[in-house]
Amino acid sequence: MTTPIPAEDERLFAYPQDRSCPWQPSPGYRELGEGGPLHRVGLWDGKSIWMVTGHAQARRLLADPRMSADRSRDDFPAVLPRLDAPIFKPIAIIGFDPPVHDIHRRLLAPDFSLKQVRALRGSVEELAGRLVDDILRKGPPAELIEDYALPIPSMVISELLGVPYDDHAFFEAMTVGLLQAKSARDAEAAGQALWDYLDKLITVKEREPGGEGVLSRLVGQVDEDGDLTREDLVRIALALLIGGHDTTSQMIALGVVTLLEHPDQLAALRADPGVLPAAVDELLRMVSVTDVSGVRVATEDIEIDGHVIRAGEGVLVSSSMTNRDPEAFPDPYRFDVRRAGGHNVASGRHHLTFGFGIHQCLGQNLARMELEVAFAVLFDRIPELRLAVPLDRLPTRSGGTMQGVHTLPVEW
Ligand code: HEM
Repeated sequence: MTTPIPAEDERLFAYPQDRSCPWQPSPGYRELGEGGPLHRVGLWDGKSIWMVTGHAQARRLLADPRMSADRSRDDFPAVLPRLDAPIFKPIAIIGFDPPVHDIHRRLLAPDFSLKQVRALRGSVEELAGRLVDDILRKGPPAELIEDYALPIPSMVISELLGVPYDDHAFFEAMTVGLLQAKSARDAEAAGQALWDYLDKLITVKEREPGGEGVLSRLVGQVDEDGDLTREDLVRIALALLIGGHDTTSQMIALGVVTLLEHPDQLAALRADPGVLPAAVDELLRMVSVTDVSGVRVATEDIEIDGHVIRAGEGVLVSSSMTNRDPEAFPDPYRFDVRRAGGHNVASGRHHLTFGFGIHQCLGQNLARMELEVAFAVLFDRIPELRLAVPLDRLPTRSGGTMQGVHTLPVEW
C-alpha cells in the first residue's frame, strides 16, 4: 500500500509501505536501499525524514550522542499517526536521553540480565509444553497466536513485572489497540486505559509491599525528589508491558511461518539442535519484526557519507533494510539458519533487530530465550506442523511498522 504524501514534496518516497511477503521488507524499500544508505522519505503528516538503510551508517547514527530519542521534543518526528498521541510523549526509557535514560535503565538491568533469564528458562519450557499439550488435546486445526505465540511472552512478562495474568485479555487487547491504532485518538484511549490499570496496580503494591516482580521491587525505590518518581514507575511499567509481549509473540508467529516455508532450513535445525541460537538470530534478522531499529532527531548538524543531517531533522533506521545490507550480510535475502556459523552465534548477531547503542533492547536476552524455547518445543512436539491456509491468505498487518499476522491457523 503506497500512501499519498500531501504537502512537502510530492516526489518523496512514501513511508511506511506494506510487505508482500511476511519475512521480506516491502519491495519498495528494497529498491530504495539499492540507491544508497540514506534517503529522504515522506510521512503521513506531509513532513519528511531520513530513512537509513545502510548497516554501518545506522550503527554510527544510533551510537551518536547528537541524536536524541526524546519524544517530548517538538521536532521529534511522529512516524505514524498513533505516535502523535500524548501518551507516547514521553514513553519511559526508550524515549529519554541521558542522564534520565541511564538512571532508569540501571534500575531495571538486574531483572533482564543473562543470569536472570537463564533462571527463567525451565519455567518457560514447562509453559510451552503445557500449551502444546492443550493444542494436541483439542486437535487440529489450532490458532497459533492465541494458543501459543501470545501466551508465552504474555505470561512471562506478567510474572516478571508482577502483573496478574488473569487480566491478560485486557492488557493484550489494549496493547494491540495502542500499537495498531490508526489515529492518535485511538492510541491515546488504549494507552490511557493501560495507564489507569497500571496506576491502580501500583497503588495495590504500595499498600502491600514485599510482593514478587519488578514493580514491587521498584515501588520501594520511589522518591518524588530522587531518581524515580511514581509517574516514572507507571511509565516504566507501561513501556515494559507494551514492549514485552506483542513484539515477541509476533516474532514467534512470523518465525514459525518462515521456518514452515523453508522446509530445508527447518530440517537443518531439526538435524542439529545446536544450531538453535544461530537460527533464532537469523530469524530475527530476516523477519525484522518491528521494521524499525530506532527513530531519532538530530540535535546538531551531522555529516555522514556525503549527506548533512541538519539539526532538527528526523532519522528513522530501517531494521529490515540494514539487516539486508550486503556489506554486512552476504546474499542478504537468503534465509540460512547456519549463517551465524553453526554453534558460533557471534557473527550472526550483528543484525539491528534489537537496535544499537544505548537504547539497544533491554529485553533481548529474554526475547532470545523465549524464541528458542518456543520454536524448539513446538517443532519437537508437533513435527508435522503446517499452515492451515495458503501463505498468501494469512491476514497480515498493514499500514504500520510493527509486522505481524492477526491469526495463524495451523494443522498437523
Ligand atoms: C523480538 C522481540 C523484541 C524486539 C524485536 C525488540 C526491539 C527493540 C528495539 C528495536 C529497541 C530499540 C529502540 C530504539 O533504539 O529506539 C528496543 C528497546 C527496548 N526494548 Fe525491546 N524488543 C523485543 C522484546 C522486548 C522485550 C521482551 C522487552 C521487555 C520485557 C523489551 C523491552 C525493551 C525496552 C525497555 C527498550 C528500551 C531500552 C532503552 O531505551 O534503553 N523488548 N527493543
